Amino acid sequence: TRPLKVALLGCGVVGSEVARIMTTHADDLTARIGAPVELAGVAVRRPSKVREGIDPELITTDATALVKRGDIDVIVEVIGGIEPARTLITTAFEHGASVVSANKALIAQDGAALHQAAVEHGRDLYYEAAVAGAIPLIRPLRESLAGDKVNRVLGIVNGTTNFILDAMDTTGAGYQEALDEATALGYAEADPTADVEGFDAAAKAAILAGIAFHTRVRLDDVYREGMTEVTAADFASAKRMGCTIKLLAICERAADGGSVTARVHPAMIPLSHPLASVRGAYNAVFVEAEAAGQLMFYGPGAGGSPTASAVLGDLVAVCRNKLAETTGPGDSAYTQLPVGAMGEV
Ligand code: NDP
Ligand code: HSE
Repeated sequence: TRPLKVALLGCGVVGSEVARIMTTHADDLTARIGAPVELAGVAVRRPSKVREGIDPELITTDATALVKRGDIDVIVEVIGGIEPARTLITTAFEHGASVVSANKALIAQDGAALHQAAVEHGRDLYYEAAVAGAIPLIRPLRESLAGDKVNRVLGIVNGTTNFILDAMDTTGAGYQEALDEATALGYAEADPTADVEGFDAAAKAAILAGIAFHTRVRLDDVYREGMTEVTAADFASAKRMGCTIKLLAICERAADGGSVTARVHPAMIPLSHPLASVRGAYNAVFVEAEAAGQLMFYGPGAGGSPTASAVLGDLVAVCRNKLAETTGPGDSAYTQLPVGAMGEV
């Protein structure tokens, strides 16, 4: 079988781990896919940076030329942000490639149009890594729970802010000190404002709500409050009440089923609640479905290696689809429920 050609757009915290695992697990990936996968190009911004384990011949700063090559089977987009990622993804579809992305900001903003473009060109668009790092959440919601009715998705979906809040609570660390550490560990977004002001969690809430409720939820539909105003005094008061403070994302279907809401804000959590014990950059998400009852998804929510695990899972799925000349499940937004104002649910 011919090797499947994979191009990496971005080789930072996530991309470098994807490349490393593609190399170290090459035999396993070949066995699981049924064909070898070959790293055929790596687009970056700074070509002179030393990138361990990557053939310098593969490095390019011309991401557009890479996606237009026409012989690439799968593009892995781990650049982040809206542009040039959006144009590169649509160009990739036009030139024969399917796409795996970790880009929640882009999927939350333009997921519907990108899904449409993928369908028009007979390609896949997978983005398990966009929500909650290593935790399988997109596929369970889209596939395993497709026959059930999800009414609520609630939890911690941002590793950076959980890391900061946990450090402030348990070690008394200052906000800036904890944010700097989260950044050094590769958890934070390129602009950490996205984390601490709740934009990243809101993007994830929009994606989760759309898939869980089979409707369209845009980033602007999500009520958003960040955690920058949470102080040591707030933790002291929470502690007196037997609580801690977490940044939560809450997506709910109205009791009459006629609308949905999504919101992100800091919340007091009783110490006895499982979410109170989510430490560091871990995430935890509860899904409540009519037949299944309550499910809990828990694990590393940020960082290069955990996120690369989710990217690689998508890469295997997309490569298998390529070989079978099929595509996976597309956009699940087959109804259009109104997204209600806060407090409506
Ligand atoms: P980084 O900032 O570490 O890496 C970004 C990479 O993209 C770098 O290699 C950079 O090149 C490259 N790049 C930037 N602009 C361009 C451009 N115009 N053309 C070509 N390459 C470019 O980001 P992360 O790896 O942390 O994040 C990547 C994506 O994954 C984002 O969408 C993020 O939200 C998402 N994500 C990140 C997680 C994490 O824990 N870090 C977890 C889950 C998702 P250079 O190396 O030369 O600077
Ligand atoms: N900055 C994000 C976080 C990365 O801290 O959760 C994972 O999506």
